[in-house]
Amino acid sequence: MYKLVAFDAYGTLFDVYSMGQLAEELFPGNGQALALMWRDRQIEYTRLVTMSDPNPEGSRHYLPFWELTVRSLRYCCKRLHLPLSAGNEQRLMDQYAKLTGFADSLEVLRSIKTQGLSTAILSNGSREMLSTVVTANGLAPYLDKVVTVEDVRLFKTAPQAYELLLKNFPVVKEEILFVSSNAWDALAAKWFGLDVFWVNRLGHPFEEIGESPNFEGTSLTEVLAVLNPSAVQKETP
Ligand code: LAC
Repeated sequence: MYKLVAFDAYGTLFDVYSMGQLAEELFPGNGQALALMWRDRQIEYTRLVTMSDPNPEGSRHYLPFWELTVRSLRYCCKRLHLPLSAGNEQRLMDQYAKLTGFADSLEVLRSIKTQGLSTAILSNGSREMLSTVVTANGLAPYLDKVVTVEDVRLFKTAPQAYELLLKNFPVVKEEILFVSSNAWDALAAKWFGLDVFWVNRLGHPFEEIGESPNFEGTSLTEVLAVLNPSAVQKETP
């Protein structure tokens, strides 16, 4: 029986690829490429920072995720030869701050709370940016805690990042279901010892290393079936 359902933020509850639309408006013909490269470079920077000084006290190279997000945007624009004015950087980052949640994010969190379980976000995001995006999407009433790696200054996939859930909730590993749309995040959480639901919206293959996720679905809504299978069966005619 799970007591806590913990969600990754960016890509899982909030749609990072929606940045592609604004990027396309600002840089016609390059929006999709920029959005994809930006996301990859941002995650690349988190790994670089963490692996280059995996000190349990925190990496001395640590920069908040917000800062890594800006720096990776600048890098990608240079790489793609797109002139990034201060105004356009501001527009892109303003939109990033208030990313749209996936259509089912709020309803799924609300439903899990109704079942009496605890809910959390566990994210690489810095505290302020998480607070802004959670509030912008009206999710705050349905989250017990927003847990950020800022507290350990090591990004996922460092085990210390996943361990934060155990420090913030009176639960053991077996009582946590971790939900992520990022296969690498799902895999690392599984390696840490959590049960994992992989939200595979795009029908991608799972990673070729490590163990498969415990559960897989194409939307957040499918998490509800894992938590309360009988309720879902009853709805089936
Ligand atoms: C997060 C990113 C990695 O929210 O999706 O942690």
